[in-house]
Amino acid sequence: MINKKLFITMGLSSLIVFGALASMPPEPEKAKNLKVLPKNLTHDQIETIMRKWTRALGVRCNFCHERGNNAADTKKEKEMAREMFKMTAKINSKYFEGKKDSLGMMSESGIACITCHRGSAHPELKELLSAPQGGPGFGRPGAGGPPPQGGAGTPPPPPTK
Ligand code: HEC
Ligand code: HEC
Repeated sequence: MINKKLFITMGLSSLIVFGALASMPPEPEKAKNLKVLPKNLTHDQIETIMRKWTRALGVRCNFCHERGNNAADTKKEKEMAREMFKMTAKINSKYFEGKKDSLGMMSESGIACITCHRGSAHPELKELLSAPQGGPGFGRPGAGGPPPQGGAGTPPPPPTK
């Protein structure tokens, strides 16, 4: 009697295990809320793009995403990133003859986020002008003397914050 019960219990629990394995998705969930990226991107492809953006801006995922909910549109930074993506694609197609690659992404012949951002979420001119790393005279016309080597073209050092 006990053996029979045990047998049934084991039988049932293995059914549950098999059931769970069979219903597991073969790959991570598809993105639910893509408005600017091609909708056919795989999870890995999205992840690669996101890492690039994260590095370009010198931020973490939660700069744009509500923690644990990448599909939510709760942060204004995420919306801004969409606008930035559209702007970047437009500049590339208009001025760099950027073509779409097989994924429907703009191939990176022209500019990318990092071209402007260079590791900072805030590449605004006023921040560049007040940053000490701009070099003497940078942003102050008539400050005297020839521009320092590299001048305004010198990339700022990595962000400290
Ligand atoms: C600069 C802002 C920004 C950063 C930083 C960022 N993301 Fe995103 N992420 C976005 C935007 C914008 C979208 C939506 C793209 C669209 O609308 O096509 C998105 C979409 C996603 C999606 C798809 C969600 C869905 O279901 O629709 C995933 C997954 C994701 N991001 C993961 C990450 C991870 C992981 C990181 C950190 C490595 C990260 N993101 C960093 C802006 C960002
Ligand atoms: C042509 C230069 C340029 C390119 C290319 C560019 N950005 Fe920006 N981005 C800026 C400037 C300038 C600002 C600051 C605007 C402001 O706050 O007035 C900014 C601001 C942002 C912000 C808002 C930061 C905050 O704190 O609110 C996000 C997010 C962002 N960019 C994401 C991106 C992403 C992602 C890409 C690539 C898809 C990108 N940017 C490409 C120039 C650029």
